[in-house]
Amino acid sequence: MNPAQWTEVDGYLVNKLVPLEPVLGEALTASAAAELPAINVAPNQGKFLQLLARITGARRILEIGTLGGYSTIWLARALPADGQLVTLEIDPKHAAVARANFVAAGVAVQVDLRVGPAAETLAHLVAEATTPFDFIFIDADKENIPIYFTRALQLARPGTVIVVDNVVRNGAVTDAASTDVSVQGVRKFMELAASEARVDATAVQTVGSKGYDGFALLRVKG
Ligand code: SAH
Ligand code: DHB
Ligand code: MG
Repeated sequence: MNPAQWTEVDGYLVNKLVPLEPVLGEALTASAAAELPAINVAPNQGKFLQLLARITGARRILEIGTLGGYSTIWLARALPADGQLVTLEIDPKHAAVARANFVAAGVAVQVDLRVGPAAETLAHLVAEATTPFDFIFIDADKENIPIYFTRALQLARPGTVIVVDNVVRNGAVTDAASTDVSVQGVRKFMELAASEARVDATAVQTVGSKGYDGFALLRVKG
């Protein structure tokens, strides 16, 4: 384990491959100024999500867990001009910072930010029978990943790509006896994904400036 080296390599990769985009840097500066926690995706992860959304040809994106909107902006910039992104956030303070960041980044017209517990805002989306999403990024509280995944499937179509962040938890994911609700949320999600005939799934471990973690990647079959 050499976290300093992981961070150094992330710096190198970001320098080489992820050119500084002022609106994204400014979103982080504004988030830090408002004292939001610095738990946003790393720049190379944001670009990874953006590339995945582009590869998917996504026109409608759903994000669960907005924070200051950093990952949202990466994803919104993958959309065509008439595309739409719905992002869900429980904390009104985070939502206010995110809204200002969306205006500054020029993506406000494409972004529909809904404030409330995601289990509820997702139920509303299901009830609205909204057009299915092409790409779904699950990155809110980890305890509720199972319900977010279940709802995501109700809001998907064959071919929809789902990414779930933070599924390794510094390795704790293998600890069945863990008393950490985040670990248990991830483990329950893994059980659901494993037994869900409608998806193909994998998960990949990551190290970098955010430590030792990982993400799951799923595709709705068909
Ligand atoms: N996707 C963001 C980071 C999200 S951090 C990025 O990479 O830039 C997780 C966010 O989920 C926090 O803002 C937190 O307030 C929010 N959150 C936590 N519990 C939630 C819930 N029950 N419903 C909706 N959002 C929630
Ligand atoms: C936390 C949340 C995240 O989504 C993340 O990527 C890293 C950390 C957290 O709640 O600590
Ligand atoms: Mg995350």
